[in-house]
Amino acid sequence: MTIRRVAVIGAGTMGHGIAYVATAAGFDVRLADADPRTLATGIRRIQEAFDKAIERGKATPETRHAGLARLTSAASALEAVQDADLVIEAVPERLELKQSIFRDLERSVAPTAIFGSNTSSLSITRIADGLRHPERVVGLHFFNPVPVMKLLEIVRGERTSDTVVDAARAFATSLGKTPIVVRDSPGFATSRLGVVLGLEAIRMLEQGVASAEDIDRAMELGYNHPMGPLRLTDVVGLDVRLAIAEHLHATLGDDTYDPPALLRRLVSEGKLGKKSGQGFYAWEKDR
Ligand SMILES: NC(=O)c1ccc[n+]([C@@H]2O[C@H](COP(=O)([O-])OP(=O)(O)OC[C@H]3O[C@@H](n4cnc5c(N)ncnc54)[C@H](O)[C@@H]3O)[C@@H](O)[C@H]2O)c1
Repeated sequence: MTIRRVAVIGAGTMGHGIAYVATAAGFDVRLADADPRTLATGIRRIQEAFDKAIERGKATPETRHAGLARLTSAASALEAVQDADLVIEAVPERLELKQSIFRDLERSVAPTAIFGSNTSSLSITRIADGLRHPERVVGLHFFNPVPVMKLLEIVRGERTSDTVVDAARAFATSLGKTPIVVRDSPGFATSRLGVVLGLEAIRMLEQGVASAEDIDRAMELGYNHPMGPLRLTDVVGLDVRLAIAEHLHATLGDDTYDPPALLRRLVSEGKLGKKSGQGFYAWEKDR
């Protein structure tokens, strides 16, 4: 199964990044968004990403020009998927929305076209429910910022075919990403492990084991993590982490994921981390 044409549905934080890396890697990309302004912003951010790549010596004006010539802004998701070999959705994290987009688009794609979902927590098996070809659905979990983060977590749903998983691996490699393949299970590999560390660090802070700075330094200097778990929680967003912890607690039934009171309190006070200006640390507020 050869992938040449990629449709990306959703041009927000993740969608525009995915469209950029695919365009830069030589794929023909069509980008769509329900909101025309977000689509225009997404295209502009892709142009800026090429500019940055030129500054860093990773692209030339010629490769930028050729890359942007492969990128099309589509007026609708339906238009974007015409002739697509791979459709990647990066729309908000709502099961019914992702299901309805794939159901609507399935009528307009070839039986062999792959449907990739960038969900960070939803079940790939459930997203594929109701499709004529559920074997075509696979999780393609990119990380933010997409051009920088090396990992692509491929999630195999209960009915995902081997051919589709193999094609997803090849796609990851052609983007310069390193793929891992994970069975469809709550939190996949990344959130399930990462959240444990983050929640335990919060419990340690609650219990006065050490300061936030020192808990973070323990992992940064003792374990070579590029960023400590509390600072990372601030970057991700305390509300986002709380929602994931609640989801994992409910689905895995393991108290390891029971959100600590300190996390709930900070979220209820609007201390959401970097984006709000205050979390475990004080930040310059996002503009
Ligand atoms: N932000 C992150 O750090 C991150 C990391 C990994 C995975 N994810 C996942 O990626 C997905 C997208 O997240 P995001 O942060 O890019 O969200 P976002 O809000 O920045 O972008 C979502 C976009 O989808 C568009 N959209 C909504 N409904 C649509 C429709 N029916 N058709 C076409 N476009 C539609 C919206 O207009 C918006 O521009 C989510 O599933 C999220 O869980 C996010």
